[in-house]
Amino acid sequence: MNRKGNTSVYSNQSSIHNDLATLVQKHMTSTWQEPIPLHDREAMKKIIALLEAHDGPLILDSFCGTGMSTAKLASEHPKALVIGIDKSADRLRRHVQTQSCNYRLIRGNCEHIWAQLVSANIVCEQHYLLYPNPWPKKAQLKRRVHGHPSFPLLKQLGGSIEIRSNWKIYVDEFAAASQLLGLNTEVKSLSATEPLTLFERKFAANNENLWVCRAYSSLSL
Ligand SMILES: C[S@@+](CC[C@H](N)C(=O)[O-])C[C@H]1O[C@@H](n2cnc3c(N)ncnc32)[C@H](O)[C@@H]1O
Repeated sequence: MNRKGNTSVYSNQSSIHNDLATLVQKHMTSTWQEPIPLHDREAMKKIIALLEAHDGPLILDSFCGTGMSTAKLASEHPKALVIGIDKSADRLRRHVQTQSCNYRLIRGNCEHIWAQLVSANIVCEQHYLLYPNPWPKKAQLKRRVHGHPSFPLLKQLGGSIEIRSNWKIYVDEFAAASQLLGLNTEVKSLSATEPLTLFERKFAANNENLWVCRAYSSLSL
């Protein structure tokens, strides 16, 4: 078990990646145009049908894993439709259904779903990205959420964004990248007394430090 304050993320980075600003600025000046595979177009059709049947705000739970957070957010926000997205059928199958009826889990690639939501002019009220894979090697910057060409879509999706990680550098990078998009940010340490996700529960049990970045547009205040 880790001593309090340690993290199990090992990286050859000791601070924010040197190439972060250049990479984000490059992605801000172009539109990500990767073709959307059929299964993600089908996933989007399901989301559209859910939105048409719902009269209330949308909350996204991207990289939802088994959807524990999706169900919890749904019970905390009974008027919202909470949509959890994950690409792993295996994780989604392990979801423990709750009584809340205002949430759904959708199998899909988050980046492709974000692109389609933006094209359809759909905005969300809140967007959670809880413990995305950290891709901690320096060479993996482009695989992190804020290093991916889809990153500027997060601002276009609107709402307040919350990302959590057990790797402080990841959260600091996300904040720096969000500021380049023109968002306001705050980074805090997180005390997970009531874990929102399975990974959070595991990290908290190992006494790891956890971090959260909230990013929001001043227009959404
Ligand atoms: C570290 S797990 C965290 C899961 C959950 N949020 C939690 O905290 O317990 C990361 C999740 O992201 C999913 N994932 C990774 N890349 C993805 C992508 N591009 N689109 C959708 N899901 C993805 C994985 O399948 C995995 O369930």
